Amino acid sequence: MLAAMNVVVTGGNRGIGYAVCAELARQGHRVVVVARDAAAGERAVRSLPGEVTLVQGDLSTVAGMWALAERLRSACPEIDVLVHNAGLWPSKLTLTSDGLEEAFAVNHLAPFTLNRLLEGHLKRVVQVSAGLYVKGRADPDRTPYGKDFHPLRTYADTKLCNVLTLRPFAERWQARGLTIDAVHPGVINTGLGARGGPVGLLLKVAKRFWKTPAQGAEPVVALTAKSTSGRYYDERDEIEMTTDPALGLRLWEQAEKLSGVA
Ligand SMILES: NC(=O)c1ccc[n+]([C@@H]2O[C@H](COP(=O)([O-])OP(=O)(O)OC[C@H]3O[C@@H](n4cnc5c(N)ncnc54)[C@H](OP(=O)(O)O)[C@@H]3O)[C@@H](O)[C@H]2O)c1
Repeated sequence: MLAAMNVVVTGGNRGIGYAVCAELARQGHRVVVVARDAAAGERAVRSLPGEVTLVQGDLSTVAGMWALAERLRSACPEIDVLVHNAGLWPSKLTLTSDGLEEAFAVNHLAPFTLNRLLEGHLKRVVQVSAGLYVKGRADPDRTPYGKDFHPLRTYADTKLCNVLTLRPFAERWQARGLTIDAVHPGVINTGLGARGGPVGLLLKVAKRFWKTPAQGAEPVVALTAKSTSGRYYDERDEIEMTTDPALGLRLWEQAEKLSGVA
């Protein structure tokens, strides 16, 4: 049995995140569930075994990201692993109070901002990515503001933004001994991407054949115990990641400005 770790899991109240919390708690780790809805978070915490606590936090606004970082710093001053699991596959364009497209905020800007605000308090980051990022065509002038919004493509665009910050974080943190890796959890039957209409119906039917949240949690939990950095895993297998250093740098500088961490 590994030494007990302090692990923070965003979006830990349902889906893959909940299953990740359940497995980590079962293994004896101290788990902090981050949920935007306090009642849903409390229900999740009550149903989980072991030492599990709740920190409420909404990742869709910059103020919410800063407030969450502050709460995490006091609830868990030494984070062994931060699992960025919360994610959103939007069916319609929603702009946040910052004027940003919501999935861009949750899938990309929030992990970036938390990494920067908490880097003095953590040892390792596991980013739950999505294999679909390879279909992303993110445009820093349009994607953040939903100007190129598309109900299927935006998810991939925002996941690509996130993936392109992986190597820069690995390089930034190398000397300090902090590590970061990303993982595609598989195709999993959760509430992700739920929507109405024919596409929603098709998705609902298809999901019956997909893997369970517990199966999706397995490669995520396995990665919490690794010490590689700047790598991308397709479930258990390490694979080459798409890189576009010039776009990555633009997204990095933009995220610094949008989040106010610069
Ligand atoms: N399911 C798949 O096949 C699949 C495949 C590849 C990658 N992934 C990735 O796996 C991760 C988990 O997805 P899932 O399938 O478990 O989806 P899910 O069941 O829809 O769960 C998403 C989680 O993210 C939280 N979340 C969404 N917006 C938030 C916000 N503004 N602030 C805080 N939390 C927020 C949700 O909270 P609420 O309950 O409050 O909405 C929920 O806990 C995502 O990053 C997703 O992109 C999933």
